[in-house]
Amino acid sequence: MAIEVPQGATEPAAGVSSLADDPWSIPNLTDPYPLFERMRDAGPAVWLEQYGVHSFTRFDSVREILVDHETYISGAGVGPTNLHATPNWRPQGILESDPPRHTPMRTAMTSVIAPRKMRALRPGFDAYAQALVGQVLATAAPDLVHDLAEEFTLRVFGDAVGIGREGRRENLLSHGAMNFSFFGPDNDLHRQHVATGEGTPEWVLANCERSALSPDGMGAQIWEQADAGVIPPEQATLLIRAMLSAGLDTTVFAITNTLVCLARHPEQWAMVHDDPTLIKFAIDETLRYESPFTAFFRTTSRDVVLDGVALPAGSKLLVFLGAANRDPRKWGDTADQLDITRDTGGQLAFGMGIHQCVGQPISRQESQAVLEEFARRVAHIELTAEPTLYLHNTLRSWSTLPARLVSA
Ligand code: HEM
Repeated sequence: MAIEVPQGATEPAAGVSSLADDPWSIPNLTDPYPLFERMRDAGPAVWLEQYGVHSFTRFDSVREILVDHETYISGAGVGPTNLHATPNWRPQGILESDPPRHTPMRTAMTSVIAPRKMRALRPGFDAYAQALVGQVLATAAPDLVHDLAEEFTLRVFGDAVGIGREGRRENLLSHGAMNFSFFGPDNDLHRQHVATGEGTPEWVLANCERSALSPDGMGAQIWEQADAGVIPPEQATLLIRAMLSAGLDTTVFAITNTLVCLARHPEQWAMVHDDPTLIKFAIDETLRYESPFTAFFRTTSRDVVLDGVALPAGSKLLVFLGAANRDPRKWGDTADQLDITRDTGGQLAFGMGIHQCVGQPISRQESQAVLEEFARRVAHIELTAEPTLYLHNTLRSWSTLPARLVSA
């Protein structure tokens, strides 16, 4: 028997402005903030004509959508396709599940990536950071994306999960980029990322096998959660795949974006150089200011009115974290300025509610380890060319950061 899936909104709700702009055009991906401002100012939601979807950009509405997981569900996909109507291209994992399916997966992940366990990994991260920063300082013309952010994350995160070292660079970054691309529209850029990621899902799945994992890593610990009956064995593969899909690019981007932002604000780099313990505040402010995971979708499970916008059941909604994190209604008149002394409490770069990033504890240990060491040893970052923007429908970062470093 066919399951009836509600169609959702097919036109703008009463009082909602309709916009012809395309947030995924190359100019808007290059600098999304002027459009984000117009969208926020147009009302709690705007209707994007080209995509037929209500979009939310104000902090309070975005937060409300994220915390009310019963009304704004993820199980119908966090991309534009309603997965209740069209089956997904691969089995749905933790990110695209609702309770009760989501709950045991989340329990297993939380116990493996617990803050206490991640703090224990820190000495190893620090030791590699020392060696790598020394190597970068000895390089005549380093590219801080390739030589530092990617190199560091590929090594320490890959080792923490417990996968083999061979093939990581060739597979993991483009695999992540391809996965995140499915959370945006099917345009040329998406097809480019899918083409670049071809063959990587097979490599990743092979590395999720129990026999391929080191016995002490997070991957093996997920399998132990299956042994203990917390999750069925087939979900162990999905969870390790989720770590490898969601955990690499995002952390590389958090490190890269901090470096780009602070290189462009030398007075704030001087502050972290003087006191490297400030780096954790700089990372958080950069996550707010240039959020790496900028947008995704939810689907309404029932008819609902959100901030005066009436949305029928089955409506896809577009949620812009990157815009909410720049909303002056929350962050004041300086929302569009980088300020590492700002109180960033409540910023949404890791999401909010039951799907809030489960990888946060390891991501923070990684980025703090490498950036603290870098801040201690580098007095000044001189850009030798403009950083190249990384173009992606849902991720925001740079793909090169050529620099000359002045060591302390
Ligand atoms: C700075 C780095 C990172 C950022 C900005 C980031 C961002 C996010 C965001 C915004 C969400 C919520 C998505 C939603 O609500 O639909 C999320 C969820 C998730 N993240 Fe991260 N993430 C980062 C690092 C990591 C790492 C290192 C891992 C791997 C260990 C990871 C694994 C996950 C998983 C598995 C989920 C789904 C959680 C759930 O549905 O319960 N992330 N992340």
